[in-house]
Amino acid sequence: ADFDRLLSAAGDGLVVASNRQPYRHDYGDDGEVTVDRPAGGLTAGLDEVMRRVDGTWIAWGDGEADAAVVDGDDTVAVPPDGDAGGTYTLRRLWLDGDEVQGYYYELSNQVLWPLCHAALATVESCGDAWADYRRVNEQFADAMAAAATDADGDPLVWLHDYHLALAPRQLRERAGAGPTLAHTWHIPWPSWDTFRACPNRDALLDGLLGNDLLVFHVPRYCENFLRSADRGLDGAAVDVDAGTVEYRGRTTTVRAAPMGVPADRIREQAGSAEAAGFRAAFRKNRGIDRDTRLAVGVDRLDYTKGVVQRLDAFERLFADNPRYRGELTFVQIGTESRSAIPAYADYQERVEAAVDRVNDRFATDDWRPVVYTTDMISNEGLAGLYREADLGVVSPVRDGMNLVAQEYVAAGADDPGVLVLSDQAGVHDTLGEWAVSVRPHDTNGFAAALDDALSMPERERRRRANALADGIEDDDLDSWLADVLSAVAGVASADGGVPTR
Ligand code: F6P
Repeated sequence: ADFDRLLSAAGDGLVVASNRQPYRHDYGDDGEVTVDRPAGGLTAGLDEVMRRVDGTWIAWGDGEADAAVVDGDDTVAVPPDGDAGGTYTLRRLWLDGDEVQGYYYELSNQVLWPLCHAALATVESCGDAWADYRRVNEQFADAMAAAATDADGDPLVWLHDYHLALAPRQLRERAGAGPTLAHTWHIPWPSWDTFRACPNRDALLDGLLGNDLLVFHVPRYCENFLRSADRGLDGAAVDVDAGTVEYRGRTTTVRAAPMGVPADRIREQAGSAEAAGFRAAFRKNRGIDRDTRLAVGVDRLDYTKGVVQRLDAFERLFADNPRYRGELTFVQIGTESRSAIPAYADYQERVEAAVDRVNDRFATDDWRPVVYTTDMISNEGLAGLYREADLGVVSPVRDGMNLVAQEYVAAGADDPGVLVLSDQAGVHDTLGEWAVSVRPHDTNGFAAALDDALSMPERERRRRANALADGIEDDDLDSWLADVLSAVAGVASADGGVPTR
């Protein structure tokens, strides 16, 4: 894709804003700086994009504020020296403990996250958290307005996710009509019947309608948003077919663009010597026999990811089909996430308990049905593990998109493997046809689907794997970026030309 052309059609510079930063810097007492990369597909994917354009990324500077503030240092060039590709400017916002609690832990992750994932019983009451959320969004709006002023001409400001729902309107108040504002919402947008439970729902809709373009991963979420705006906001003129909302003198265009992964890079990583070494070492260190078949799951430890339900299904599979005992190991890689929130800490315990239960029930002296680890694994190691696995199991109870499913396909399992995919993941809308579909709460159906996937003849596996590989190459990270930028160019130009997908 011609990014420069699309970008210059969209604006004169790129300012990105997200809650999570792509690199986290820790400043040691001896002046040494260590840099690591937080978990999550969003930042990894966007970092790939930003390396190609010399823009500014604004994010919460989680972790290292004290040392950096003493140094007066709120911008840094990333990626750190030695990484491939170009660099860009990362501007960190330093939030105090109360702000982090109210804005990130409470409003974003105990109200909006469960609400958008249709888990209303998990939504916590919010009091002062709303004021923190508003204030932190204002800090983002101030920083975005400053970055937009520093850029030449009228730049494109690209916001991300549910942490920043008020910021588009606040930025508009600061920067006027000038910059083009696009916002990608990476989690589901629920139906109106669910969204109407949202505290401050009018303000959230009003905030998002400060954007010129609002992007979801799949058309279902666009429709849910449009119907929420229609039902929830007096004075909004909503055209569901055209995907537009007119409100407070401005038109917001709503589009779907499914996020993809850098398929070529993942395939390369999967074929690297490091990946091969990791595969062999992983089997050896975890006591997995060379001939034992593998199923793999890779998730942040979040209650939306369906890890507990997946373990229930494997337990049923081993109970009903003794022939898999000793022959198949399910490897679950978990990344700890938002552990300060009780629902997350509880979930991590439930996962561990389920792993122990299945292992206690079926393990023998030389075989374990489940290998579970929260160890950090390199990208090459992970890609190697995907390639090694007969099954990639991605079974969220609800998920905006899910990039793990695509990574599994991109790595290209040796034999070839089968993707077992929840119909509740956004990516099921694009890849579901060639995956083995499951409903995560249907334990018996899930176990039967695992059995089907494990017994699928090679010819059929190959047919599906080829179709999946074509699918993720057509909808890879570059194609997502091109889709978003074309839509931006469409709304920014007088004569429209907005793609309709
Ligand atoms: O993709 C959804 C998302 O919430 C991102 O916004 C986020 O960076 C990622 O999941 C990981 O979550 P967190 O940033 O809260 O660790």
